Amino acid sequence: MKTENDPSLNPQTNIIPGFRAILHGGDYSPEQWLHAPQVLEQDRRLRRLAGCNAFSVGIFSWSHLEPREGVFEFGWLDRVMDDLAEDGCKAILATPSAARPPWMARKYPEVMRTGRDRRREEFNSRHNFCWSSPVFREKVREINERLALRYKDHPALGLWHISNELGGNAGLGECFCDLCLGRWRQWLEQRYQTVDALNEAWWAGFWSHRFTCWEEINPGDSTLDACALDWSRFVNFQMREWIEFEASTVRPHTPDVPVTTNFMGVNPWIDYAELARAVDVVADDQYPALFAAKPNLEDSLLATAFKHDLQRNYLPGRPFFLMESCPETPQWHHPQALKHEHLHRAEMLQAIGHGAEGTCYFQWRKGRGGIERLHGAVVDHEGSERTRTFGIVKRLSGTYDALKPVLGSRRRAEVAVLYDHDSRRAHELGSGLQGGGYQYLLEAQEHYRIYWRHGISVDVLDSRRDWETRRVVIAPMLYLLHEGVAGRIRRHVENGGIFVATTLTACTDATLRCLQHGWPGDGLREVFGLWDEEADHLPEGTTLGILSADGGSRIGAAYSVASVVHAEGAEVLAQFEEGTGIPCGHPAILRRRVGKGVVFYAAGRLDRSALGWLHKEVMDEAGIAGPFLDELPPGVVFSIRADGQQEFWFLANIAQETCHLRPRGQFEADRLAGEGDWGQVISVPARSDSVWRVKRSGGGPCCARA
Ligand code: GAL
Repeated sequence: MKTENDPSLNPQTNIIPGFRAILHGGDYSPEQWLHAPQVLEQDRRLRRLAGCNAFSVGIFSWSHLEPREGVFEFGWLDRVMDDLAEDGCKAILATPSAARPPWMARKYPEVMRTGRDRRREEFNSRHNFCWSSPVFREKVREINERLALRYKDHPALGLWHISNELGGNAGLGECFCDLCLGRWRQWLEQRYQTVDALNEAWWAGFWSHRFTCWEEINPGDSTLDACALDWSRFVNFQMREWIEFEASTVRPHTPDVPVTTNFMGVNPWIDYAELARAVDVVADDQYPALFAAKPNLEDSLLATAFKHDLQRNYLPGRPFFLMESCPETPQWHHPQALKHEHLHRAEMLQAIGHGAEGTCYFQWRKGRGGIERLHGAVVDHEGSERTRTFGIVKRLSGTYDALKPVLGSRRRAEVAVLYDHDSRRAHELGSGLQGGGYQYLLEAQEHYRIYWRHGISVDVLDSRRDWETRRVVIAPMLYLLHEGVAGRIRRHVENGGIFVATTLTACTDATLRCLQHGWPGDGLREVFGLWDEEADHLPEGTTLGILSADGGSRIGAAYSVASVVHAEGAEVLAQFEEGTGIPCGHPAILRRRVGKGVVFYAAGRLDRSALGWLHKEVMDEAGIAGPFLDELPPGVVFSIRADGQQEFWFLANIAQETCHLRPRGQFEADRLAGEGDWGQVISVPARSDSVWRVKRSGGGPCCARA
């Protein structure tokens, strides 16, 4: 059976069909400069000089496109599109819904959002339109169709950019107007069919919440946390439906132009795995702020790698797009430190190495006024190519030219980490975990880190997606269990898979009702051969030592959570030391062989040393090893893409010393870009990067199996 991970099912296309280049450019706001044609001319000269090829236009242009109701002015955009085409560039053409013009809010106040206090907002800011307003929909439909009809055959049109950062900058995307609340009730009815079924799913007997009709359900009442969870799912549904609506206004006119919208990283509120189903290309806005003064660059790089491996898998087999990043520092970031060239390159090449085929910027040119006038940009107020940043961008374009052979290759992983937005929300709403959903994310990243530091590719996947084809599946603190997932875990291990779980896994169903008869629930207690009775939440700074069960040597410690786990068939690999309330000698790490596979279980959050120990066991069991004989030294960023014949190894070294890596096996390698040597060891000089085309000596593609 073909699965989502099967390359033949998702033939890789370029982000913009037929445009075989790594996209490099930025958000471009020519409408702010229509009074100064010489600036627009200068932009043309500079973008050619910078080697940039893709520009997002029209994002916040509505008041220029329709300055008064029903009066449309496309002439300026015609010129911009023509110039882009003449310069060999592609336009990522935005629909302008992210910021409606003031006249619209004045004439039709209903286009603005309504707050929790049921008060309608006045005209301000952006992103804050009502999802349900019929007038707004009609206005958006009209302007989008006009854009689509006007530019459908234009050679510059490459990609549709739907709105901007839906759900960002304006609360959580919530609107409490009567229309939105009406849709909320309809959504509930569709999901639960009857009020009684909802009462049961939400455990509404609590505090006398049994509802008798849909109208009684107030989304602002968080007493039933299932209500809060469903409300955020509903807001997510509104966003997805909005993307689908906007896409339906342009797709019929431009069936070959892909549709995208820009996401906002690993977001605490938005379930992007869901939204991604409405787009053709996953695009993200990334501001990890890699500047030298930042205390922990390694953690920023880790978080970014994790995010790429998550987002890439929203639409498996297709390249993703870093729509917004910054060649300098954003004005909202403090301190406003310089972004050094090697850091910028490491950040951009990391994205490409993880499967992106474009990295663009907010913004191409700094505007003179408004709150973003000091935001980093390719072109400064100084206006020429003489700036440090311009040079950085120009040189990166040169590197991207050299990386064309990489286009169409993809990442392959034998290891998956499961990360569910719903579990994140569940931890946020209350699982006992100090720090809530963010700590859940950090825990997933800590497990991921072990493989990342070995240079082993990992897919980060939602538990509802296809993950069974991965040899090793790691599900840290998967608190909320969707229907069917427990059965899939059981079958995965019975069929030879390796599954790693931790405490706080399989504790509730999808509406936060606790699973009964002992955790991990839904039959996993029997599969894992253990019972996780209760958790001890350790105060900050406290740890609980862990000893290996065979020789009693200390392998590390637990922090934040350690649980009382009873082995019920599982073998104990490591135990807790004397320390907190947990009786000494209680299991800390367990293993159970099930069918042809193996389950590992961590009875707490393990520090890096204990995690390293656990995952060494996992890797040995799976026969998986990284492409180097050693772990990557701190400051080295590494990733692999591959096609049928060859691999592409991306290396960046942001440390102060040259690093030397010993590859596992014999390879033939030629350098596509950057600096460094490949002999017995690979040397990457300090503050540099390199991309290699790699073949295993003696033919055949490289592999990561030991
Ligand atoms: C993004 C947004 C851009 C710009 C940028 C500034 O979130 O999409 O329009 O505001 O932030 O960092």
